[in-house]
Amino acid sequence: MQKSSPIIVFDSGFGGISVLKRLVDLMPCENYLYFGDSANAPYGVRTKENIVELTVAAITSLLPSDPKAVVIACNTATAAALPQVQAACGEVPVIGIKPDVERASAAEGTHRILALATQSTINSDSFAAQLKALKEKGDSNVIIPMGAPCIVRYVEGNKKDWDGVTAELKEQFSALDAPVDEVVLGCTHFPFAKEAIRASLGYDVTFFDAGEKVAETTRDILEQRSLLADDPGRGSITFLNSKNDPEMIRFSYTLFSMDM
Ligand code: DGL
Repeated sequence: MQKSSPIIVFDSGFGGISVLKRLVDLMPCENYLYFGDSANAPYGVRTKENIVELTVAAITSLLPSDPKAVVIACNTATAAALPQVQAACGEVPVIGIKPDVERASAAEGTHRILALATQSTINSDSFAAQLKALKEKGDSNVIIPMGAPCIVRYVEGNKKDWDGVTAELKEQFSALDAPVDEVVLGCTHFPFAKEAIRASLGYDVTFFDAGEKVAETTRDILEQRSLLADDPGRGSITFLNSKNDPEMIRFSYTLFSMDM
């Protein structure tokens, strides 16, 4: 493991590119190896055992690249498989991502927070522990967890079905008994659909995602280990995808260059 070793960024598909963007913003000189498991996406509807199996297999297959860090840029895979990935990675630090309900709750006043995530994340012990810890701290915000599988399908399908996704989201949001103030983007695919979420709600909200926090944690860990790349201008990004199709790589670049 050395300063020029890659940082692996893993997701069930394209969603982790929203985290990769934050990593590159903060550490542009690093070499990134992005792996999207689009052949097996969505993970959010799979069993925990299956998510563990897929995540560990994908990340283990990338270890011969001698990474200096592994970022699980997938809330679903983090909630299901973080300890198993850590065990498989040995000395290599593994950084996961969780729905940032803590930051959303920390804002002034009492508010209603829509926590969008995959069903698997919502059902996980890890998410239950986050909500419990907030309650124990006396948090009085109303947190409404909700799945949004149509957004994952929309992003994985190259963002073609805009009308379909807004119609489905509108239908889901009609179940809310009052407006929400904040939306937690608890799945890394969701930052690419902020406009669709806003349009489907019909009013403005504040969004929270944990991409920046993950980038900062990764930087801090590499700094502590004296492994931050210090050769300015020599960073790189390599996109890999389990769907053996050049269109997957082209679409990865398209998403990476999008504002979000
Ligand atoms: N991007 C993933 C997450 O952050 C999950 C999407 C999927 O269902 O595969 O949870």
